[in-house]
Amino acid sequence: MRISLADDVVMRPVAEDDAQALTDAYVRNRDHLRRWEPRRPDTFFTLTGQSERLEAQLQQCRDGRLMPWVLADGDRIVGCMNVSGIVYGAFHSANLGYWLDAGYTGRGLATRAVAAVCRDADERLGLHRVEAATLLDNVASQRVLEKAGFEPYGVAPNFIHIDGQWRDHRVYQRILNDRTPTL
Ligand SMILES: CC(C)(COP(=O)(O)OP(=O)(O)OC[C@H]1O[C@@H](n2cnc3c(N)ncnc32)[C@H](O)[C@@H]1OP(=O)(O)O)[C@@H](O)C(=O)NCCC(=O)NCCS
Repeated sequence: MRISLADDVVMRPVAEDDAQALTDAYVRNRDHLRRWEPRRPDTFFTLTGQSERLEAQLQQCRDGRLMPWVLADGDRIVGCMNVSGIVYGAFHSANLGYWLDAGYTGRGLATRAVAAVCRDADERLGLHRVEAATLLDNVASQRVLEKAGFEPYGVAPNFIHIDGQWRDHRVYQRILNDRTPTL
């Protein structure tokens, strides 16, 4: 699966040999992402840390609980889209998280990627709903979600531990279809 997002950027599932490119991407974007992400231990920014994280992600993917995508410009990883916490039953729902390399923002890439991730969640994963949450002042991310068809449905106090503190988040969902779930 390779989805073209622009002349120079494709989105594809994360691969077993991506650990070095992921390490490079997180090191390059450490300052850019700090405000919007959980506090990362120093080991997160090492090849060992990324190899362990990647292995765990691939296992969750095999178990059907996670769909990890990367955005790539050639050998360089320039973003991630993670569909996590996939549950079926009466929910058929998952969480979406994402980031873009600082050098690639403002080109509509995140919006196109979120739209493609939702298409895959609907058509291949068979989900009913995708949810996402942004910090109250993350206007760029809120625009991405709104442009990709998500609706805000409230504010969750003390929701996610970001940059060292439990922080309120605006919560969004996109209903993908009205299929009856297989229970
Ligand atoms: C949020 C993020 C993924 C957006 O990626 P992107 O590829 O630049 O997004 P797009 O180009 O598709 O759309 C961005 C929109 O936000 C708008 N925007 C960007 N910065 C903004 C700001 N400071 N205030 C208001 N709007 C802003 C852009 O104008 C654009 O909207 P428009 O098309 O109506 O003009 C990227 O900035 C990022 O990785 N940020 C850090 C990590 C993060 O916040 N992740 C999401 C956590 S919920």
